[in-house]
Amino acid sequence: MNNTLFENSNSNIPIDETARQLYFCEKAAAHVKELAERLGRKPTCCVTTFGCQMNARDSEKLAGILERVGYEMIEDENADFVIFNTCTVRDNANQRVYGRLGVLNGYKRKNPHMKIALCGCMMQEPTVIEKLKTSYRFVDLIFGTHNIFRFAELLTATFEQKGMIIDIWEGTDKIVEDLPIERKYSYKSGINIMFGCNNFCSYCIVPYVRGRERSRNPKDILREIKNLVADGVVEIMLLGQNVNSYGKNLEEPMTFAQLLREIEKIEGLQRIRFMTSHPKDLSDELIQVMKESKKICRHLHLPLQSGSTRILNVMNRRYTKEQYLALAERIRREIPDIAITTDIIVGFPGETPEDVEETIDVIRKVKYDNAFTFIYSKRTGTPAAAMEQVPEDVVKVGFDKVLKTVQDTAREQVARYQGQIMEALVEEVNENDASLVTGRLSNNTLVHFPGDASLIGRIVEVSLDECHGFYYMGHMV
Ligand code: 5AD
Ligand code: SF4
Repeated sequence: MNNTLFENSNSNIPIDETARQLYFCEKAAAHVKELAERLGRKPTCCVTTFGCQMNARDSEKLAGILERVGYEMIEDENADFVIFNTCTVRDNANQRVYGRLGVLNGYKRKNPHMKIALCGCMMQEPTVIEKLKTSYRFVDLIFGTHNIFRFAELLTATFEQKGMIIDIWEGTDKIVEDLPIERKYSYKSGINIMFGCNNFCSYCIVPYVRGRERSRNPKDILREIKNLVADGVVEIMLLGQNVNSYGKNLEEPMTFAQLLREIEKIEGLQRIRFMTSHPKDLSDELIQVMKESKKICRHLHLPLQSGSTRILNVMNRRYTKEQYLALAERIRREIPDIAITTDIIVGFPGETPEDVEETIDVIRKVKYDNAFTFIYSKRTGTPAAAMEQVPEDVVKVGFDKVLKTVQDTAREQVARYQGQIMEALVEEVNENDASLVTGRLSNNTLVHFPGDASLIGRIVEVSLDECHGFYYMGHMV
């Protein structure tokens, strides 16, 4: 359904996609100006993000357009334009969106010119669109993951067309560069290096909602990072569903490790992070590059999902328990100060208490610094949805056991550096105590220490005085 909202026969509309969207930015800006005159104030907007870092980055693109066309960004959802950038990886993400939409409906009743928009992963599901069409008629605009670069155009349409506008594409091979972006943080930024995913893990909806894997051109990535650094960014996070398979579909193929080597050379850039790594694609070349690098952070997020080879096989993960353990051991041997974090799913169809024990065994052996533990959520259309599900009470017992093991090993791991001095990038003034600032170590652990807002964005040396479970209290040295 790659329909164009505005006909290409209108000869004023540029053909180049970036130029096209900048053209629509101007059109939308004229409408927003008119609205401002009517209201006697600058119209406000609010972008709410659900889900992962990819979505957070997409939201910065939405914010970039909204600010460019004249909205004032606020945190409050009682705004003149509200957009939810949704996630659908687990069902509870969907439920939260429906709940919050109910609240928006209340705001809109009191403020009829309010516009409500929905985008992101959840919108790529046909059943969601059906539900919105029947029960959520007050929504003005709905689009998906593939045409987010058309936001300026879609926004213009909400001013020029009546009724609910729905524009969902089934896929795209387009990567549109150089559209406005409004960063949330001045000193750090995410950067997409690839879009989509080709792995088809049997529980996961992502390949269906984010489409096939496409890598961005290294030239565009490097140019974007250089511009960010010139603008004060010191830490970047390279984003992709499976960064280890970066570059395979480029005209001139390039590995992720080679890309990292190029990024390392950028002067002024101080820290490089990336996520997510699929264990099956993590190369020795990457371990080598990380080991030699002065800028790549000592943190690797390496989703395990399950420690049972039998379950891993049904999950279509394409590694065994032993292969995963060997990989983790290799990484720890080469880079001893690295923090390894993971994602674990409990309650995948057919999982037995013995399978859960295998997962616990891996947690004990790898000693994760942190692990996100999820209860399996059935996603319509994925192969696992058709498999026999584990009863809820059994899942709960396994989940609690896994969580407890994770917390115990993480506490021990994080505490390894007590008494040492490490570099921390200061991120913000502490939320609970304004006399403290919060910094992030290279290994992703947080440390709170006395300081003020003038330190934000700076990398400083901090003594890690006291470990409190998952974070440190310290002082600057
Ligand atoms: N149920 C539960 N957790 C899931 N994840 C992905 N799909 C599901 C699902 N259907 C988890 C995986 C993944 C993380 C982003 O979300 O652990 O790594
Ligand atoms: Fe991110 Fe996946 Fe959620 Fe989409 S569905 S927002 S890709 S976690």
